[in-house]
Amino acid sequence: MCGIVGIIGQAPVAPLIADALKRLEYRGYDSAGVATIESGVLARRRAEGKLVNLERRLQAEPLDGKIGIGHTRWATHGAPNETNAHPHFSDDVAIVHNGIIENFAELRDELVRDGYEFSSQTDTEVIAHLVSREIKRGAAPAEAAHRAIKRLEGAFALAIMFRGDEDLIVGARNGPPLAVGHGQGEMFLGSDAIALAPFTDSITYLEDGDWTIVRRNQAQIFDLGGNPVERHRQQSIGTTLLVDKGNHRHFMEKEIHEQPEVISHTLAHYLDFAGGTWRPLDMPFDFAKLDRLTISACGTAYLAGLIGKYWFERLARLPVDIDIASEFRYREIPLAKGAAALFVSQSGETADTLASLRYCRNAGIPIASIVNVGGSTMARESDLVFPTLAGPEIGVASTKAFTCQLAVIASLAARAAAARGTITREEEKTLIRQLCEAPRLVSETLKLQHRIEKVARELAHVRHVLYLGRDTNYPLAMEGALKLKEISYIHAEGYAAGELKHGPIALIDETMPVIVIAPHGRMFEKTVSNMQEVAARGGKIILITDGKGAEQASVKAFETIVLPDAPDLIAPIVYALPLQMLAYFTAVFMGTDVDQPRNLAKSVTVE
Ligand code: AGP
Repeated sequence: MCGIVGIIGQAPVAPLIADALKRLEYRGYDSAGVATIESGVLARRRAEGKLVNLERRLQAEPLDGKIGIGHTRWATHGAPNETNAHPHFSDDVAIVHNGIIENFAELRDELVRDGYEFSSQTDTEVIAHLVSREIKRGAAPAEAAHRAIKRLEGAFALAIMFRGDEDLIVGARNGPPLAVGHGQGEMFLGSDAIALAPFTDSITYLEDGDWTIVRRNQAQIFDLGGNPVERHRQQSIGTTLLVDKGNHRHFMEKEIHEQPEVISHTLAHYLDFAGGTWRPLDMPFDFAKLDRLTISACGTAYLAGLIGKYWFERLARLPVDIDIASEFRYREIPLAKGAAALFVSQSGETADTLASLRYCRNAGIPIASIVNVGGSTMARESDLVFPTLAGPEIGVASTKAFTCQLAVIASLAARAAAARGTITREEEKTLIRQLCEAPRLVSETLKLQHRIEKVARELAHVRHVLYLGRDTNYPLAMEGALKLKEISYIHAEGYAAGELKHGPIALIDETMPVIVIAPHGRMFEKTVSNMQEVAARGGKIILITDGKGAEQASVKAFETIVLPDAPDLIAPIVYALPLQMLAYFTAVFMGTDVDQPRNLAKSVTVE
């Protein structure tokens, strides 16, 4: 949601903080700000909109000071303007915050009664005044912060700085991630390892309920009761996370083109390409003894899980319950002893998915998660992590993480089938061989980008688009619609093609493009019938299929995109590419902000 940074340095920190915020901008970009202690007083520069506005502000009005905190915002409380931009001040206290304080209204009323005046509509300013009030009541700065933190209910990652002490930043974490970065005679705080990558690769992640006293030469970590705690100090891969766009216009374009490589890299973690065998996994549950598998996730990650449902049930005869995490976490699902839970998340920090994971953990069932960020909260709270090795995904619209999630899930479904004896050894070898083909087929599909760019021109001026698919192409239809709407702002819906006659067909006319995902195979004929229903009403069909499908589709499509032949198991991985490229090029033609679409953030760490 937001990104926070703190530095106690040996030289002026404002430029370093601005640089770190740039790597956190994918977490939110409504406004940004930096505060330092300059000549003994708190000073700050804040700017509405993208980080470049703050950088211009800092160039025009430089900030001095060797201690500072910074923030890039995704607005939750109060409009995305400079007044509500962090850092927020209260007397001698400066603070930046990621999260939502759920009891902020009652705390705000209490502070107003104590004579505090508010200059913003944010929940964060409440925390600043709480700390300031404790200092006025005689507490030393760190203890004042500790007392204030104990009053807070909700999600927060904080960095707090105090005029009068240029060797102290207090950090705290309850929900959104926060890491301490260990330097030489300097120390850092950041929302994740990416932010701290240029400064250090020695990282300590705080756990929920932790708070920390950071000084130039040490960081002490305490639990909420004030008891010192030890947290694992690790070598972060942060230094390899320094990302840039290379020769692409957008991170999303770069990440679409990285897919052959990262899918291959991810699959290699699970299978030996040369030997055609699985690599060993220390599983927290035995697929052979499992009665049910529960899957929960959000957004694109959920759709990856929904495709997985088809695979687990069809190949391994393993019943799967799946739900979006924001519903799952409140449904109070009865979880049987013979069940296991699988969570899917690129960031590993999505609040709803994390809450669902904790629901299952409290129910005592084994937890596995498929995550793209190794040190993430979900990774640390799972019995087993199935990593996607997609590398940092900066574009808000998930692309390479999605296809890597599918690669992992496909390999797990095939392993489950082998473990449960629902496929023969020969069939297992065939599935492994098919998985090994995925990177090449994805690479071949990328060569269609100019064809797809041409088709995208047809979409760039429409108001509504319908995506249709059957079987595993149904969740893909929803993913295609999600990609289009989140970056081009065109309304789009993904529907099971068989559902068309139960309502959506009323939408069909010549102004409504209908994108049909239909490789030749299991449900092709049924899908062609649905296409005929669309054509009969003047609908404009864009068919995504393979060679055989293009030949046998007895309906004249407005456009046909022909993909290489792909085996059933990996077809969803391959067919994700045209959907991503259609959305990408449409958004480029629309002139929207492809990597940082309005109202969105890459990681939704609040509910
Ligand atoms: C996907 O393009 C979206 N950005 C969004 O739906 C995303 O998949 C969802 O927020 C889940 O994020 P996660 O994978 O980090 O948990």
